[in-house]
Amino acid sequence: MKIAVGADHGGYSHKEAIKKHLIERGFEVKDFGAFSEESTDYNDYAILVAEAVRDHKYDRGILVCGTGIGMSVMANKVKGIRAALVHDLFTAEATRLHNNSNILAMGGRVIKQNHALKIVDIWIDTEFSNEDRHIRRVNKINSYKGE
Ligand code: RB5
Repeated sequence: MKIAVGADHGGYSHKEAIKKHLIERGFEVKDFGAFSEESTDYNDYAILVAEAVRDHKYDRGILVCGTGIGMSVMANKVKGIRAALVHDLFTAEATRLHNNSNILAMGGRVIKQNHALKIVDIWIDTEFSNEDRHIRRVNKINSYKGE
């Protein structure tokens, strides 16, 4: 699995830890920045990662900002992206089973690093359920034009 990661200053240190963890687990990881804790705009990294996932250059994306909210809202503007804001293990698993989420967003100021790594592991390791009702609901997300 190829994984794209991105963060703003609020998520930088979590993103670094996540990247190291994923590489240690054997995944191919592309870091789209930011590359320091200097103040920056979460929007730019959300778009880079979301477009790379949309274009199937990477299988999944992980985004971290201070709260995870800006990242998830921005990433969900990109067609084909289902970004899930997750801060607990239950929803990390549920959003893969039910929503087939392709981006995980977290808040670096909300959860500790070791908890974020546990969320990452569950989210990465859980496959979509492929149950009819969840396929139908994901299809409704994907086909909604929002215009
Ligand atoms: C940056 O201060 C903060 O607003 C950002 O990291 C994020 O939490 C936005 O949703």
